[in-house]
Amino acid sequence: MDEVTSLMAASLRTSISLLEKTNGALLDAGGKRVRPILCLLAAGACGGISRDSIHFAAASELLHNATLLHDDVVDGASTRRGNPTVNSVLGSPASVLVGDYWLVKAVDCILSSVNHSERVLRIFSKTLSDLTEGEMLQMEKAITRDTTQDDYIRIIYCKTASLFESAARGGAISAGADEALEDVMGEFGRNLGIAFQIKDDILDYLPSDRLGKPAGQDLMEQKITQPLLCVLSGMEQADAAALRSRLAYVGVDPSAQEEIRGCVVSRGGIDKAALVMESYIEKAIFCLRALPDSKEKSYLASLARYMGERNF
Ligand code: IPE
Ligand code: IPE
Ligand code: MG
Ligand code: MG
Repeated sequence: MDEVTSLMAASLRTSISLLEKTNGALLDAGGKRVRPILCLLAAGACGGISRDSIHFAAASELLHNATLLHDDVVDGASTRRGNPTVNSVLGSPASVLVGDYWLVKAVDCILSSVNHSERVLRIFSKTLSDLTEGEMLQMEKAITRDTTQDDYIRIIYCKTASLFESAARGGAISAGADEALEDVMGEFGRNLGIAFQIKDDILDYLPSDRLGKPAGQDLMEQKITQPLLCVLSGMEQADAAALRSRLAYVGVDPSAQEEIRGCVVSRGGIDKAALVMESYIEKAIFCLRALPDSKEKSYLASLARYMGERNF
């Protein structure tokens, strides 16, 4: 991970002082670094970490940060990792531009790998198109408010799990895994990413100062996520329709937000959503049976369990 951090810092070096300062502040703020950890563990579990593993791990974290810089503009977010967002300090144009910069540095990290750069670039390109499609589908569904369970899983696969899948595949490829093993790692990453985003959506219902970003945002943006979906699916059709239409008022009537949140909590939406999340954690752990035993394999299982336990 130290090598990943050094490679990210080296890739982002620039003579433009405003950009250099912004990049430095973003690097210092850190984050959990889940995607590069996944990439390195996948490599370790598939035969061993190589120089290319470091490149693909750095690319996954650079790309992740690029999406956050764009996401905070899309969501009008004021804090991230406990700090003011780039859009709140320098404005949205700066956040978009810095996001573009990190995105292209992710591409550079892949291109400067020794082997498989074209193959991994194709995998990450697919993730980039998934990201935009997921965000646009989420926007569409925030307007129509008719999100189904399938729509929701599709959205969170595209906006979050696709990158987890790519990071895991990149790790496997960097270790020289065959196609079957690469697919197993991709499937592991996909399930892990879905569980990760469900947990994120659960945490959004549980205000906490440990998150480093505001809670309650999903409802504010009229997003129907797992806790609300679980409650809706247990309701009479007319009641569910009424609750969905109430969502239209969250922006103008603060009591609407509290009402929906209260309904989700009192009807057990949080616990039910946690069960859905657990099912994806189990699916992820089940994928690992195809791997030979190793310390990295057991860390991958721990990483999957951590998805359920994390509080920030
Ligand atoms: C935040 O990702 C965006 C989501 C996909 C939920 P992380 O929770 O991994 O963010 P950092 O990097 O740790 O801040
Ligand atoms: C996370 O989006 C996925 C991307 C960054 C594309 P969210 O909007 O759900 O994540 P947070 O809550 O801002 O981290
Ligand atoms: Mg968003
Ligand atoms: Mg957001």
